[in-house]
Amino acid sequence: MKHLLTTVGLDAAAIAGLLDVADHMSEINSRQVPKVPALRGRTVASVFFEDSTRTRLSFETAAKRLSADTMTFSVSTSSVNKGESLRDTIETLSAMGVDAFVVRHKSSGVPAAVTQWTDAAVINAGDGWHQHPTQALLDAFTITRSFGDGNSMSGRRVAIIGDIKHSRVARSNMDVFVKLGAEVTVVAPSTLLPPGGLPAGVLSAHGIDDVVGSCDVLYMLRMQRERMDSALVPELGEYSARFGLDAARAARLPAHALVMHPGPMNRGVEMLVDPSTLPGSRILAQVTNGVAVRMAVLFTILGGAATGLSQGDA
Ligand code: NCD
Repeated sequence: MKHLLTTVGLDAAAIAGLLDVADHMSEINSRQVPKVPALRGRTVASVFFEDSTRTRLSFETAAKRLSADTMTFSVSTSSVNKGESLRDTIETLSAMGVDAFVVRHKSSGVPAAVTQWTDAAVINAGDGWHQHPTQALLDAFTITRSFGDGNSMSGRRVAIIGDIKHSRVARSNMDVFVKLGAEVTVVAPSTLLPPGGLPAGVLSAHGIDDVVGSCDVLYMLRMQRERMDSALVPELGEYSARFGLDAARAARLPAHALVMHPGPMNRGVEMLVDPSTLPGSRILAQVTNGVAVRMAVLFTILGGAATGLSQGDA
């Protein structure tokens, strides 16, 4: 694997391989000194052209725990504001010696374009409405490890609620979950379903009440108001009434069901209950697992030395 641009090229075996490596990384993260020398001497640059809290910090933490050097590019303080092009920015950073770029951009396809301008590996950290592969991997890791199901989601009923149309998370998750054997149902207003239809094997339902009593995983998405060019949802109150998770609905979840959200959450819109009161919430576990999964991706792509994983402090 040279790059990670989309989940589409990953089959179930490749996904399982990455999740197995992530188990190893989780174990490293549980040590008193959660750091190994596996990627010593390598440089990972995060190049984010869009706001991010968890994904950027998660990748940077992952790189540091493997002892890579990190470079952080922040568009608001960069020469992009002086008119420097994306291509010149990438070529400039490459000339300093970068082994992997972690790229986020509001336009779909930018991480793929970046591969043309550098010999370094490129990891997609979210491009437009298109893909967010590491989110799907960390979500699959969180679900399979919560249920003790090995690397399979076979027969697990996953309901993804919200703005499917604008969500790269939903696109990557539908792809990965179906490949691992899950039964995926999306629940969204018809205006927020993907215009090209749903992937094979994915069902749809009309409201959260149709799925809440029978799902194994309730996966809530953020209402992505910054990606909407017209009023696709007439009233947020109306949206919350049909698609929001409130205490009454949470009480109808099966006892074993997981509640997940990729963050950032809109409390009072899709999340009407404090998730910290829900025993099935895995929202912070997703964040914790995100570091391990991104360590697994960086390690696999950069071909880190396996011996570097078993040693202690770097
Ligand atoms: C998501 C994103 O940016 O795609 N957040 C994340 O990476 N955890 C989801 C969102 O913006 O709603």
